[in-house]
Amino acid sequence: MTLKEVYAPNTDSRFDAYKAEHQRSITDPTSYWGEAALDSLSWFSPFDTVSQGSFIHGDVAWFINGKLNTCYNCVDRHVEEKGDQVAILWEGDEPGDVKEVTYSDLLRRVCQVANAMKSQGVKKGDAVTVYLPMMVEVAVVMLACARIGAVHSVIFAGFSADAIAERIAASGSKWYFTSDEGKRGGKTIPLKNISDNAMNKDVAKGIVEKCFVFKRTGGETGWTEGRDVWMDDLAAEQRPYCPCEVMDSEDPLFILYTSGSTGRPKGVLHTTGGYTLWSHVTAKNSFDLKEGDKFACVADAGWITGHTYIVYGPLSNGVTTFMFESTPMYPDVGRYWDMVQRHKFTQFYTAPTAIRSLMRFGDDEPNRYDLSSLRVLGTVGEPINPEAWRWYYEVIGKEKCSVVDTYFQTETAGHVIGNLPGVTPMKPGSCTLPHFGVETVVLDAQTGKEIEGNDVSGVLAIKQPWPGITRTCLGDHERYLNVYMKPYPGYYFPGDGVTRDKDGYIWITGRVDDVLNVSGHRIGTAEVESALVAHPAVAQAAAIGFPHDIKGQGICCYTTLTNGYEESEDLIKELRNAVRTSIGPFATPDMIIPSSSLPMTRSGKIMRRILRKIASGETDSLGDITTLGDPSIVQVLIDKVEGMT
Ligand code: WT7
Repeated sequence: MTLKEVYAPNTDSRFDAYKAEHQRSITDPTSYWGEAALDSLSWFSPFDTVSQGSFIHGDVAWFINGKLNTCYNCVDRHVEEKGDQVAILWEGDEPGDVKEVTYSDLLRRVCQVANAMKSQGVKKGDAVTVYLPMMVEVAVVMLACARIGAVHSVIFAGFSADAIAERIAASGSKWYFTSDEGKRGGKTIPLKNISDNAMNKDVAKGIVEKCFVFKRTGGETGWTEGRDVWMDDLAAEQRPYCPCEVMDSEDPLFILYTSGSTGRPKGVLHTTGGYTLWSHVTAKNSFDLKEGDKFACVADAGWITGHTYIVYGPLSNGVTTFMFESTPMYPDVGRYWDMVQRHKFTQFYTAPTAIRSLMRFGDDEPNRYDLSSLRVLGTVGEPINPEAWRWYYEVIGKEKCSVVDTYFQTETAGHVIGNLPGVTPMKPGSCTLPHFGVETVVLDAQTGKEIEGNDVSGVLAIKQPWPGITRTCLGDHERYLNVYMKPYPGYYFPGDGVTRDKDGYIWITGRVDDVLNVSGHRIGTAEVESALVAHPAVAQAAAIGFPHDIKGQGICCYTTLTNGYEESEDLIKELRNAVRTSIGPFATPDMIIPSSSLPMTRSGKIMRRILRKIASGETDSLGDITTLGDPSIVQVLIDKVEGMT
């Protein structure tokens, strides 16, 4: 049997309409986005210029002089008509532990936290670090920050104390939110104690003035008098209304740290007008959001997917958004499908890694549940392999749902490429076509020239500014220019390879820089390497990605040891641990390969290309190794990797 390549709903006229609208959006972005911004968002006073600036100068700005508030758009404007509708539906670690927060409740809770923050001195423009588990409070705090104009910096609750400390220092954040503990997959995570550790590290010492703590479990925590404040108590004392700060469209909304190919993670900055519009329209278009929908994005709020598609996008559209505290495997592998049946989700949005790991348990699991409420299934984070796509489409969606493959990045705010449900014919493994306002091109990696026509490959670039583009890297605009704007002058460069097929469809082929994508989490090889060389046993380290059945990519670290250290299982464990404590458990290497040397050119450069081939088992296509200082090391490494797999 040959597998279908195109899944094409009979929607030609709608597909033609998409093409026409897309064309208009890129030929006349000023009128397109000017209208969209007025239609979609509520402004305190309108902008006088739609956009200005360019990629070349890295000075893009949207909706100049427009005044609005993101929290108002996500909460207040819905209260009058649907105050009693559930805004946030939360399910805790234990199945059936459910909380519903209506739009009216949400407004009161956000206002109380906003007033509590103000009472402690938090002001417009201040950075606020948020290290919270998936409890309703994470959304409440984000919205409260937006309401008073504070700039949140949410850190995924899987990051280690070292990683938190570094981010506190980088943003100079005087304010910090956490909870006593977190719950996930039956385990308890000591978030406050990890936070204490972070705040006590040398780089972060003395920066945090107030640490606001929510109660999740009631467990024991350390406590620093004068600095630590129980937020539930402080918020309960506050008046349940807080006026919205009038924000300029270009005022910062949040920072979110993400990994690059070199150096430390960078703080990507998003601004009020452009981000809010982008999250609104892409959530609506990608997921066909309608009144009364129950939208479930099961990502973590600590990543851009969670910011845009758990919090801002769904709420500004006034639907019910779902927040999930647990994992797809807890207490058993039917957890997602059980929740679909109980809550009757209309959309479900997850990552290929989760789909692949659930697919392994067969069709019987999902088939035990009623999944008929679903209309749209979303995937994000890495290219989805066609086999997993088909399983998602057939077994979960019963061939009745659209599968939307959404391509974006922390820096793009929201989707920039992806099919529209019921509109774009689908091809498993392709993220299909650009969103409105996004003009994608394929560039020759070497010359930077646009490659015309179809059936071509190169690097992906975006040709004109869209409202959601990140405006700068916090405190380092030079880096922003160097990473995104300078590699191909005149274009925004996301760092991915691409193929445009015979029909003009886009297939992302993965990062072309030294960034790993492990289970949809972006990790810089430089971060892993610096964690390893910080250990006294390690002289040199090279972290390499290799194909992994479930995670997409696994991490293989080649190391040479300093004199006096011997290879042993204990040492390997210690080195894995060094990476966990420097970054977080999600970055734990799959393989650590100590050896006497690494393949280097005669001029002393590590040959990453060869290490990549060895880690991937592609040893029959190593290419020329004669330029190596010591070619014999190659066979030694091949034997070691084979011994491990
Ligand atoms: C990188 C961005 C976007 C939210 C999660 C990760 C890869 C993302 C897709 C997709 C192929 C994808 C890219 C991108 N990526 N979505 N649908 N198809 N690749 O956000 O941590 O900023 O990582 O994830 O390589 O550059 P992020």
